[in-house]
Amino acid sequence: MTAARDKINDNFDHLDDKIKKIDIEIKISILRRENPDAKSYWRSFLYTPKDGAETVATALSRLNEREDLRDMDGNPAPLIQWEYGCLQKKCGACAMVINNRPALACGTRLYSEKDYKNYIKNQRAIEIRLEPLRKFPVIADLISDRSVLYENLKTARAWLKNDNINKFNHAAGIDKNMKTARKETDAAYEASRCLQCGCCLEVCPNFDPFNQFFGMSAAVPMSRILIRESGEAERELSGNYEKYIYNGCGKSLACRNICPAGIDMENLLSRSAAIAVWRRMIKRK
Ligand code: SF4
Ligand code: SF4
Ligand code: FES
Repeated sequence: MTAARDKINDNFDHLDDKIKKIDIEIKISILRRENPDAKSYWRSFLYTPKDGAETVATALSRLNEREDLRDMDGNPAPLIQWEYGCLQKKCGACAMVINNRPALACGTRLYSEKDYKNYIKNQRAIEIRLEPLRKFPVIADLISDRSVLYENLKTARAWLKNDNINKFNHAAGIDKNMKTARKETDAAYEASRCLQCGCCLEVCPNFDPFNQFFGMSAAVPMSRILIRESGEAERELSGNYEKYIYNGCGKSLACRNICPAGIDMENLLSRSAAIAVWRRMIKRK
């Protein structure tokens, strides 16, 4: 886990047990929408976590378990629609915008030590604002349609065609050049952690679901396949990487430090550009 990810998700762990048990009132404000055609509106709920280890996902589950869900003004409210799978930061389903930052609901604590101190000082509920990912069509409440991620992978033909065992053996460190081989294996392993959550696309100034730049959610799996692919399939994938990633990426690195899987975007972009673009250009000369 990277330092950035520690900072985002686990900033509560330094609190001592006494503090974790104090009742804290959280105001959870949600940008709601009943269906794709309905108008969106904000609705707030008051929630008291059982302990400080609770995440946004826990709070959403417990709110939905209430027999008679009401907002903080006492109005009846429909169940909150959100997606989840593993609740272990492994599937990416629960990605949403939490306090203006894309993150996993199951990987985000309800409050930090700083929030807690402010709460004690001001006696005002800590506010958390939840919105669906904004780059994709909203289906309902906190659920967005991220199918474009998979369509983009299909368009880029980002799958392994020839599992080149020699190249893989090389990458696995079974040949003489152990140092390079291990680096390649590490890079492939790191890329395999991508959850397809879409958090990186949320902050990317160049990504739009309707344009030809596919963003890091495609660049990461493509980089893993580039390491193992060979021959014509490697050439085709490299061409697609250049077309759908390299040409459209502004290299702003706004996506750095946002990935819940802790993937090092900077390193991955430069490695993939070297494999898919620069080495091929040099060969052509
Ligand atoms: S470097 Fe900038 S343009 Fe490229 S994927 Fe990251 S945020 Fe998007
Ligand atoms: S690169 Fe990271 S932020 Fe982007 S889709 Fe994969 S896991 Fe999510
Ligand atoms: S539910 Fe799987 S990552 Fe949150």
